Amino acid sequence: MAEKARIGILISGRGSNMAALVYAAKAPGCPYEIVLVASNHPDAPGLTLAEAEGIATFAHPHKGLSREEHDAIMHDALVEAGVEYVVLAGYMRILSDGFVSKWADRMLNIHPSLLPKYKGLDTYQRAIDAGDRVAGCSVHLVTPELDDGPILAQTEVAILPGDDADSLASRILIAEHQLYPGALARYVTREADPDWILAEVRRRALALEETHERASFGAPGWRVGSETTGKYFAYFAQSHHGEASIALLVKTTGIDEQTALIDADPDLYYAPKFYGKSGWIAIRLDQGRTDWDYIGEWLYKSWCQVAPKRLTRLIEIAGQF
Ligand code: GRF
Repeated sequence: MAEKARIGILISGRGSNMAALVYAAKAPGCPYEIVLVASNHPDAPGLTLAEAEGIATFAHPHKGLSREEHDAIMHDALVEAGVEYVVLAGYMRILSDGFVSKWADRMLNIHPSLLPKYKGLDTYQRAIDAGDRVAGCSVHLVTPELDDGPILAQTEVAILPGDDADSLASRILIAEHQLYPGALARYVTREADPDWILAEVRRRALALEETHERASFGAPGWRVGSETTGKYFAYFAQSHHGEASIALLVKTTGIDEQTALIDADPDLYYAPKFYGKSGWIAIRLDQGRTDWDYIGEWLYKSWCQVAPKRLTRLIEIAGQF
């Protein structure tokens, strides 16, 4: 199995979600390990539990420090522990934009509502007062805007007749403990998920001008030009023609470039069946080390190879200035 993702959890109090993650991480095959539990309250009950479970802990009160100063101290502790993903679990601090951007796409939070409903506090009472039939919890990526990042997973929890904020909160908490460990596991292994990889390729391919998607012999492919006369500039190969790998197929300038690429990095590139003969190259996307900016550049270069002159001419002209 691949190396486990290293998780740092930030808490402020009880730490029941932290405990759920700690125990989930003990299961064989869990793709993450908890390497640090840190808090802004040195007496947070969750720290005692983490210590008893043999996990490194760190605490630093925020009193007397600016938000940026305190965040910097927490950041250094996370980096020192070799943390790759930060998981917020009842961390009752608004984070500075600087801290959030340092952990962009690598920081998750759990919130006790079905986001985008009821951001902020008092979520249970607000759901009850609104007459909702279901409440719930959401795991989301953290962005500078409070409780606003992309939603990764949600669980609905029925609101019962006679529920008050406390009774509803305690049921939602059960759902949180079920939701968070699985959502984290899926997130840290997303680069091995073919659907996630395909979505990343698709987003970049369709961002290029005048492109559309059309399957070719069962493989997703992207064309430039009109629906009738468009030409393929990329294919997504997953177990295609019996090949085991997941790869992006793009057009090189010809066999010479194709050969040079394969010679330079035979683990990353190969000549795909059928398409290889006409100078297409396969770039592997399933090795857990994909440089997505580089993939974006390849899609663009391949698009330039086949795009109609009226589209590429504008780019050539722009390039002269
Ligand atoms: C949970 O309700 C969670 O949704 C919210 O803070 C609370 C943390 O509880 N973000 P605990 O410390 O994990 O027990």
